[in-house]
Amino acid sequence: MTDATPVTPETTEPPVDQDVSERGSNRSQRPESDAFKAFVTSSWAPRAALDVEPARAAPFAAARRAMLSERFPGARLVIPAGPLRVRSNDTDYRFRPHSAFAHLTGTGWDTDPDTVLVLHPVEPGTGDSGGRGGEDGSGRSAHRAVLYVRPLAARDTEEFYADARYGEFWVGARPSLDDVATRTGIDARHVDGLRDALAKDVGADGVALLVVTGADEAVEDLVDAIRAESGLDGTTQDAGARVEDEQVTEAQWLERARIAYQRTDAALVEAVSELRLVKDAHEVEQMRDAVAATIAGFSEVVRNLPRALGHRRGERVVETTFDAHARLEGNAVGYETIAAAGDHATTLHWIRNDGAVRPGELVLLDAGVEVDSLYTADVTRTLPVDGEYTDVQRRVYQAVLDAADAAFAAAVPGARFRDVHAAAMEVVAARLEEWGLLPVSAEESLSPDGQQHRRWMVHGTSHHLGLDVHDCAQARRDLYVDGVIEPGMVFTIEPGLYFKADDLAVPAEYRGIGVRIEDDVLVTADGNENLSAALPRRPEDVEAWMASLRD
Ligand code: GLY
Ligand code: MN
Ligand code: MN
Repeated sequence: MTDATPVTPETTEPPVDQDVSERGSNRSQRPESDAFKAFVTSSWAPRAALDVEPARAAPFAAARRAMLSERFPGARLVIPAGPLRVRSNDTDYRFRPHSAFAHLTGTGWDTDPDTVLVLHPVEPGTGDSGGRGGEDGSGRSAHRAVLYVRPLAARDTEEFYADARYGEFWVGARPSLDDVATRTGIDARHVDGLRDALAKDVGADGVALLVVTGADEAVEDLVDAIRAESGLDGTTQDAGARVEDEQVTEAQWLERARIAYQRTDAALVEAVSELRLVKDAHEVEQMRDAVAATIAGFSEVVRNLPRALGHRRGERVVETTFDAHARLEGNAVGYETIAAAGDHATTLHWIRNDGAVRPGELVLLDAGVEVDSLYTADVTRTLPVDGEYTDVQRRVYQAVLDAADAAFAAAVPGARFRDVHAAAMEVVAARLEEWGLLPVSAEESLSPDGQQHRRWMVHGTSHHLGLDVHDCAQARRDLYVDGVIEPGMVFTIEPGLYFKADDLAVPAEYRGIGVRIEDDVLVTADGNENLSAALPRRPEDVEAWMASLRD
């Protein structure tokens, strides 16, 4: 047995005179002298005015706020942009505001971290003049919007030169309060006034205070603290609960519960999500731009396929080609690009993208450009690496395309959102039956107790699309999956078939083939428009398009 020498206090180094929490500044060599501080903060020309104009989205955003206002009379609504988020240690992700904030302010800038939009309740008719009935100046909104902003620090502050997260020396100048107001058409105030502004008149018999949760924990904590101080518990904020010995009818109680629910954060989160179910004209225009940029990105990828074939991580060539295009032509990608060759295409969200792209295989590209206004496309094509589909690849591809076409035929006003999926599934089940792959009939498989066909397509056929790739995710089921399709809705149609390389339930010829075809659909008054129709879908058109780009 070895005799390890015990470590005694006498044999260890004395502790260093620096708290661990301060070690992050180890690499800093910033001078601390008064001479430096005086010099670095002096002799700057007056700040040039930013070239700020009212955003084109501003009147649309005002109309959206007016619609939200109608749902929450008497409640103060807090919609944070969100903070910078740490990627690792002291480096942040590039800032992107919460989608509800972007939607209600019409902004998509990277200068908004910590900004908070507040809709203050006012006497009906005295609020913002935007929105339905507002353009005539009548001002029907019962809320007045204010943006609480962290404005640009003056040049004689430490923030100016020393703050790596917010300082002008480090990340550039932010807009002034006037700039923000000009751009958005919304009154802009210093964020220091947020607490008092939120707390005003809040109470059980006064103003309810609701926050869009999930955007900014610090703002949520502030709201919670104000509610606690005001005697509100933060969830119901209303005496809507049933009092045991009170004589109320079921209908009265339900109405009270409905009113109580309207005074919860959950109701606000739901409302800002549902507000985006039907896109306005400006949003549709942004979606068209996003789709056009995305289609151009797909062409770039096809031009670069020879390079992908020659690289050990060809999928990364596909990914980075598209992502570079997205960054050049828009804000970024709207979600992580899926660049999946061969069997990887059978992994639905394959974003590791570290595989080879091999001749004879398919490559599935699921990608979308998020334009500067933050609207994103979501498009998938499954391409033959060599430019031509094999017989079995074409068979699977055509089945998926037929399923998509059936879904398009169902995606019309008045139909239910779930009908779109059902139409696609009928085709998928029929083809699988035809090929002898289903252990039961297509009819049995389509019944709720069957569903065997879903082994090869476990995802849904459609989701709403807009500021978020999976937009309107907090909408009520009644308005989403069980909802009725309306003109102005934008969603995907994206059936697929995925036969994994080790799937013993299918013959060998199918194994390792994954196909998805995804298009973005705008519902119109009398049907729909495939926004991504300019990107070839039919196998022969895909082949011809690829050939044209390689010539
Ligand atoms: N790109 C993710 C999806 O299609 O839903
Ligand atoms: Mn999608
Ligand atoms: Mn997709």
